[in-house]
Amino acid sequence: MLETRDLTIRFGGHVAVNAVSCAFAPGTLTAIVGPNGAGKTTYFNLISGQLKATEGTVWLDGQPLSGLPASARTRAGLGRAFQLTNLFPHLSVLENVRLAVQATREGPHRRGLNLWSIWSDHRSLTERADQILADVALKAKEHATVASLPHGDQRKLEVALLMALEPKVFMFDEPTAGMNAAEAPVILDLIRALKKDKSKTILLVEHKMDVVRELADRIIVLHNGQLVADGEPAEVIASPVVQEAYLGVSKEAA
Ligand SMILES: Nc1ncnc2c1ncn2[C@@H]1O[C@H](COP(=O)(O)OP(=O)(O)OP(=O)(O)O)[C@@H](O)[C@H]1O
Ligand SMILES: [Mg+2]
Repeated sequence: MLETRDLTIRFGGHVAVNAVSCAFAPGTLTAIVGPNGAGKTTYFNLISGQLKATEGTVWLDGQPLSGLPASARTRAGLGRAFQLTNLFPHLSVLENVRLAVQATREGPHRRGLNLWSIWSDHRSLTERADQILADVALKAKEHATVASLPHGDQRKLEVALLMALEPKVFMFDEPTAGMNAAEAPVILDLIRALKKDKSKTILLVEHKMDVVRELADRIIVLHNGQLVADGEPAEVIASPVVQEAYLGVSKEAA
């Protein structure tokens, strides 16, 4: 169970995330919606440790994560898509994914220097990396350098690296933004497949309401940094706060 308690960050006088308390259970996909500037990405950054909270705490499976840097939170099981600036731009797509798989399997990989184990580890890392690349439809680009990828493929690679980490919690922030009509379904299919694994907790920031309606088990709404609605998708979408604040329907018009 992932939980935030009174999670808050101030930038000068502006409270970007304001005392957000919320728990996210394994086996659920929660969509986080709200207007531009509502604090959705900042909330993710506070959970993953990219930003330090002014107040409040983050817990994962009963462990406090608040003092930990982003790298330790990743090891604890929080999966946030990599920014490609963290990658090795001049290595191939396959090599980058293989390194991510290897980092995740650090334990067994270090079991000793014998040629058989090195060879079989390498093979199993490559097989896993190949599988992930097939899942995100990037197999054809496996030998391309990351720096040479077009935008949509870079976004797919971000998701591939997230898969490689095998986190407990997947945080997707507008995963299909900037993708063309052929690319977006690949990512949505992957999220659909992930949902079947009931041990995983999925958080999805998404503006496209048709996607939210289909995938979400629950919707929370952020507005001016505050949690203003939380519940069943149909109920939340129909609520006045969403109709007005998010979908831009005025009370008079509704
Ligand atoms: N590092 C920062 N320094 C100062 N202000 C920031 C910083 N990061 C975010 N903000 C402000 O916090 C608010 C929330 O921004 P955030 O990016 O979290 O919104 P969002 O809900 O993700 O919006 P969008 O839907 O456009 O992605 C905005 O007013 C933004 O300008
Ligand atoms: Mg955002």
